[in-house]
Amino acid sequence: MGIIVCMADLLPEQLERLAHEGHEVRLPKPAADSLIAFVADADALICMLTHSIGKREFDASPGLKVVANVAVGYENIDVSAAKTRGIIVTNTPDVLTEATADHAFALLLAAARRVPEADRCVRSHDFPSWGLQQPLMGIDVGGKNLGIVGMGRIGAAVARRGHHGFGMPIFYHSRTRKPELERELHAQFLPLGELLATSDFVSVHVPATSETQHLFDAAAFAQMKPTAILVNVARGAIVDEGALVHALRNHTIAGAGLDVFEHEPLIHPGLLELQERVVLSPHLGSATAETRTRMGEMAIDNVLAVLAGLPALTPVNSG
Ligand code: DGY
Repeated sequence: MGIIVCMADLLPEQLERLAHEGHEVRLPKPAADSLIAFVADADALICMLTHSIGKREFDASPGLKVVANVAVGYENIDVSAAKTRGIIVTNTPDVLTEATADHAFALLLAAARRVPEADRCVRSHDFPSWGLQQPLMGIDVGGKNLGIVGMGRIGAAVARRGHHGFGMPIFYHSRTRKPELERELHAQFLPLGELLATSDFVSVHVPATSETQHLFDAAAFAQMKPTAILVNVARGAIVDEGALVHALRNHTIAGAGLDVFEHEPLIHPGLLELQERVVLSPHLGSATAETRTRMGEMAIDNVLAVLAGLPALTPVNSG
């Protein structure tokens, strides 16, 4: 039986499940530095995106067998250092795909139809009179070009919403071509520059890596349509926030729906000032009760499998 250090706020019944299997569950609420004290004799660690796990933690826990990240992204974990020590790292793919795609589409619609601005108006008793030239005019979504940057699981789910729900022609840029999606969604692969120039809405779905850092910089915004809206539910580091603020202020692009930020939880002050067609949410992509429950379950399944000597269900390395 093992010692599981759990830094995620799992549900009581989920913690019970770990204990029921005979494991000791420890629940530290450490400042990043003091995690070391908790992991010394740990066999498993359950953590979240907000926890940075690397060589220091691995050196301090010689018996560690598995790190289960309760997220699909895992840039918070030094996976190659884990691999060197034979530690398996797991993530939570698939279970959050639809919820995250929903949120991307919610931001797209909210920015295009100016929902938060409209809400603020009504609450402040500023109800504009109906008119053909009235304030808070939005942008049509149906039939407009949707550009997907990163056609993985979540990118494809957003593309499906656009194609089936809104009749949007789909353009995509990805590391690899996706012939099945090209058939299913009549999606057209384009080089990034062409995709930016063609799309009315650009939705970002690449992982955060050294190659994707600031993929959206001043040069990228300059290639987009002045009427375009950028949606990012992937990772903040992919977008140069300073350049985005500049592009929005100068009407290089028309708007943005952002769920992730370069220096979360800090937000670029320029973004906070921009209200028109700029919609911000605090990293809620997978935040539905059902999805977060499934993510917790998947992390637990991974830990229990590895501690039972079985293969992990969703490893991101081979340990
Ligand atoms: C993930 O799983 O990587 C998401 O960002 C969490 O919402």
